[in-house]
Amino acid sequence: MARLEVKNLHVSIEDKEILKGVDLIMNTGEIHAIMGPNGTGKSTLSAAIMGHPSYTVTKGEILLDGQDVLEMEVDERARAGLFLAVQYPSEIAGITNAEFMRAAINARRPEGNKIPVMEFIRKLDEKMAVLDMPEEMAERYLNEGFSGGEKKRNEILQLMMIESTFAILDEIDSGLDIDALKVVSKGVNAMRGENFGSLIITHYQRLLNYITPDVVHVMMNGIIVKTGGAELAKRLEVEGYKGIRDELGLEVVLDED
Ligand SMILES: Nc1ncnc2c1ncn2[C@@H]1O[C@H](COP(=O)(O)OP(=O)(O)OP(=O)(O)O)[C@@H](O)[C@H]1O
Ligand SMILES: [Mg+2]
Repeated sequence: MARLEVKNLHVSIEDKEILKGVDLIMNTGEIHAIMGPNGTGKSTLSAAIMGHPSYTVTKGEILLDGQDVLEMEVDERARAGLFLAVQYPSEIAGITNAEFMRAAINARRPEGNKIPVMEFIRKLDEKMAVLDMPEEMAERYLNEGFSGGEKKRNEILQLMMIESTFAILDEIDSGLDIDALKVVSKGVNAMRGENFGSLIITHYQRLLNYITPDVVHVMMNGIIVKTGGAELAKRLEVEGYKGIRDELGLEVVLDED
């Protein structure tokens, strides 16, 4: 079992504090969901875990099996088993999707032990079939000209190929049609198991109907204000965030600048 711990995490962007003490513990074998209003810091949390340079951790810790993640470079974090499906995947011209995934897999293997080409192709075919992706998508430049939904599906393909230990999926459901939502969920559910954990950032219960979370967190104004089971997401769908605010006596905080 592996464990990802976020302890009292404070993160600033250009001197503005966005995360104000986030605590979160995730084990492999678990699927967690984070829900919360726009601008509360969900993507900031994922960027800080992956080591995005624009996000400054001013206080707190991130530990992966007790190892200090904040001390690691971005590529080390990826090699240590962390994966982020970003909210807005970028297009990279000049490198094909397949080349990118092969390089990513090899970067995580010991020196001189590259994945054999046939094994790679077999695996790619298998995972693309699960995700109902046409073969030609593997040979196209990474995300270039991909539709919004195709990019999201491709993030899951990368995850399934790389087989990271912890995957943060930032709004993997946004912009997906109903069939694509089912397919992406099938991909994540296929990863489920004792060697995999995922933190799913979403606005909608809809995704969680397909991927049942073990734990649901609600983030507001840069902290996790409430943690519960799958029923918490269902409650949010009915009550909106007002119910939680009223219960906890929270005010709507408007940006002071
Ligand atoms: N590069 C940046 N420069 C300035 N402010 C930023 C930057 N990145 C994020 N922020 C601010 O940090 C706050 C948190 O943003 P974040 O993207 O983490 O929110 P979120 O919870 O993911 O929202 P959403 O649900 O809309 O995706 C927002 O007020 C946002 O404007
Ligand atoms: Mg976001």
